[in-house]
Amino acid sequence: MSGEGQRARHVAIIMDGNGRWAKRKHLPRAMGHQRGVEAVRELVRSLESTGLECLTLYAFSSENWKRPDDEVDDLMNLMRKFIKSDLPEFIANNVRLKILGNWKGLAPDIVAMLEDALEQTSKGTRTLAVALNYGSQQEIVRAAKAAIDLGEITVDTLEMHLDTADMPPLDLLIRTSGEVRLSNFLLWQAAYAEMLFVDTLWPDFTPAHLEQALENFANRERRYGGR
Ligand code: IPE
Ligand code: IPE
Ligand code: MG
Repeated sequence: MSGEGQRARHVAIIMDGNGRWAKRKHLPRAMGHQRGVEAVRELVRSLESTGLECLTLYAFSSENWKRPDDEVDDLMNLMRKFIKSDLPEFIANNVRLKILGNWKGLAPDIVAMLEDALEQTSKGTRTLAVALNYGSQQEIVRAAKAAIDLGEITVDTLEMHLDTADMPPLDLLIRTSGEVRLSNFLLWQAAYAEMLFVDTLWPDFTPAHLEQALENFANRERRYGGR
């Protein structure tokens, strides 16, 4: 593309590196997660200025239950606190919340808080999608089952039943912390997404880093198998 380059509509981020951030600073792991939430807050505040229609964040994977109970508890409590403290800001800033994954399998009080937050933000114009208790393989299996119930599995019928069905196609997938893997995130949706792996640990990731990533994306040549 010429001129300013292409603009992304939908960016997803694997927010990784909270534990290593804390370790480097000789702080408890929980502090890394807390600073990770603060990075999320700043990013959501900048959503309007990014021009993105949709930002998707991987917050808790279906495999993260394997972590020690106290860490899982910390993460769930941070989630409770974050929804409570930031919901008014979401509403004021026209952020429409969306949740991906098997979130109804979370604790009942969190499910109730999320249902309320979804309802209260339903008129928002920019989407913040949070993947909670999310695993892409499980999502694809769920979608395939739903597609079979309606007749047959094709690329279109399966896609219609993914959690992301009503979202724009994924343009750019970012992972922080230097790991180069997808960890069961958006496997289907990433088929033709551009990827960016950055060394920054999640608590250090700022709106300026996202801006930089969008500039990087603007200059990518996407081919989709053509030429
Ligand atoms: C990401 O940070 C947060 C979650 C997965 C919930 P990590 O906790 O995975 O941090 P590292 O990878 O151990 O540094
Ligand atoms: C992926 O990070 C999940 C989230 C960021 C929520 P992990 O830290 O759980 O991934 P692995 O275990 O390093 O692959
Ligand atoms: Mg990690």
